[in-house]
Amino acid sequence: MADLPTLSLIDDPAPKRRVASTGRALPRIGEAVEKAAVAPEIIPEPEVSPIEEEIVEDTRKIIHIKPPIQIKELASQMEVPGFKIIQALMGMGIFANINQSVEPDIASKLCELYGFVFEREKRISGGGVHKEEKVAIEPPKPVEEKPEKKKLRGPIITFMGHVDHGKTSLLDAIRRTKVASGEAGGITQRIGAYSIDWKGNPITFIDTPGHAAFSAMRARGANVTDIVVLVVAADDGLMPQTLEALSHAQAAKVTIMVAINKCDLKSANPDRVKQQLQDKGLVAEDWGGETVVCEVSATTGKGIDNLLEMMSLQAEILELKANPDQPARASVIEAQVEPGRGPTATVIVNTGTLRVGDAFICGGYWGKVKQLINEEGQPFKSAGPAQPAKVLGFSGLPNAGDELLVMENERSARQLSEERLESQRKEKLAAPKRATLENLFANLEAEQRKTLQIVLKADMQGSLEAILGTLADIPQEKIDLKVIHGAVGPISESDVLLASASDAIIIGFGVKVENSSNTAARKEGVQIKLFSIIYELADQMREAMTGLLDPELREAIIGHAEVKQIFNLSKGMVAGSIVTDGRISRTARARVLRRRQAVYDGGLSTLRRFTEDVKEVRAGLECGIRLGDFSEYEVGDIIECYTLEKVAQTL
Ligand code: GTP
Ligand code: MG
Repeated sequence: MADLPTLSLIDDPAPKRRVASTGRALPRIGEAVEKAAVAPEIIPEPEVSPIEEEIVEDTRKIIHIKPPIQIKELASQMEVPGFKIIQALMGMGIFANINQSVEPDIASKLCELYGFVFEREKRISGGGVHKEEKVAIEPPKPVEEKPEKKKLRGPIITFMGHVDHGKTSLLDAIRRTKVASGEAGGITQRIGAYSIDWKGNPITFIDTPGHAAFSAMRARGANVTDIVVLVVAADDGLMPQTLEALSHAQAAKVTIMVAINKCDLKSANPDRVKQQLQDKGLVAEDWGGETVVCEVSATTGKGIDNLLEMMSLQAEILELKANPDQPARASVIEAQVEPGRGPTATVIVNTGTLRVGDAFICGGYWGKVKQLINEEGQPFKSAGPAQPAKVLGFSGLPNAGDELLVMENERSARQLSEERLESQRKEKLAAPKRATLENLFANLEAEQRKTLQIVLKADMQGSLEAILGTLADIPQEKIDLKVIHGAVGPISESDVLLASASDAIIIGFGVKVENSSNTAARKEGVQIKLFSIIYELADQMREAMTGLLDPELREAIIGHAEVKQIFNLSKGMVAGSIVTDGRISRTARARVLRRRQAVYDGGLSTLRRFTEDVKEVRAGLECGIRLGDFSEYEVGDIIECYTLEKVAQTL
């Protein structure tokens, strides 16, 4: 970004070049290209054809000057003689000389007078015309609210679990009892998220198609969910995707509850599920643990009320709060293009209140809230914290996980959108920088304790366990190794998303990488390392974990000398010494030891043999040593010479 050539509209006719190379000047393209290569100042003005001139006028309209705005600079940028500006200023009742500066509003009037538009430049330095615009608009910063301004908000809950364990049925059951039953018409429109009212308090549910989507959102920085309800079928127990979902939820550090569904079935065995959960570290409350586990049936509706009660209790414990009285920030849950409506997105408001008419930026797009639609398809006026809404009025289709920010006005939203799209175009090829085995250390430098997170996929349960065991054996005194997900099977896209969201590395043992995962890994910048020999894997991990550590400065003592005689020379005190072991080097450091205590530590300022300066003196030889500006040598002092080397730490 920073290495763009510096262009500014007036003192470098770059816009002319752009104009000259557009399609409009087709017959003269060769010429135009030639001209572009020439130093801008010498492009002959008269050669510009009328049509180009018109465009040139157009592109030259804006004048950027960073305050203070000097009259001289203004004049030169507008190519108007300075005295004319002074005259114009006099006309406004302002008496100034050419070296003085004017306020932006005056500058803007002057520009208008000469047919230019004045735009205050906020750029510090560097960058071209486009860049100037690029940094002109900043998205609003999140405000850290005073606790008293925050109000309790409802929880946002996501259901996750294995295929067919009844996530959708459970959500439907909740909605049926709480919303649809009393509803005239009863047709609810799927908006990807909806809230219900439970005993006067709202609960919002996100209807995600799966945990991959959950992590995809997390990968984009949207940690929307407060509570994950892990849905497990009572007749089936914990299945691979249940475990995967569990890893995703744990990595997101959200509260996890369990709903054991299908308890109406004869083959239901909730205790077996609880046993399996316990093996995974989720101990049910009635088994003496802390995990809320509810037995339910989506079909009969049994236990649903209890589940809702438990959710609302968990939410109470979490004390979820947000300030509704500020410009809204919201997260996109899903987005689509709808006939007659254009791009629409379901968002959940994180903080503030989203209102119809608000201008906003969302990912690379901007918009103005044309309409807010609730889950019953009804328009409404405003959505507060934790409330979902379908938003109409986007300039383009945002991604799930994008943040929607309300901006001051449409103009700045649009400008920011242009800037973002432009930089997206530029950075399209650059994958985000995430952890790799090699660079993890640098990424984590700021953290006190370093953690290497990995997603581990293996070919068989046996090898998975063996690897987990081997990894656990690597000493972790200085660095943590955390397997955020370990499972059997090929490396899937969901693994990549999990790794991306958690800044983890994927380790595969004897497994394949699915095609889509490779693409995703490249896009997300996730590193995948494949191994087929367990020792190699362990060795590399050990090595990486060593490489991750801070290089430590280690002293290497290279020799000693004993002070035999002290000379007071014009330049200062010199210790006449004999090297007792090793060597004394001119470029090394040294300390003076007196009765084994260091009395001075520093570099060698001179090292001589007789009258000659030397680089090094070896054991058995005499020499004259001067250390820095130290002068209090005593006969019998030991000069210890040492070097400092950076060493990669061992664990
Ligand atoms: P995916 O979206 O495909 O991951 O599945 P899901 O978890 O949403 O499961 P879904 O709700 O579609 O239910 C799968 C099947 O289980 C359906 O045939 C449901 O009728 C059945 N089912 C869901 N809940 C219950 C229940 O409590 N009892 C019984 N007997 N069947 C249930
Ligand atoms: Mg479903």
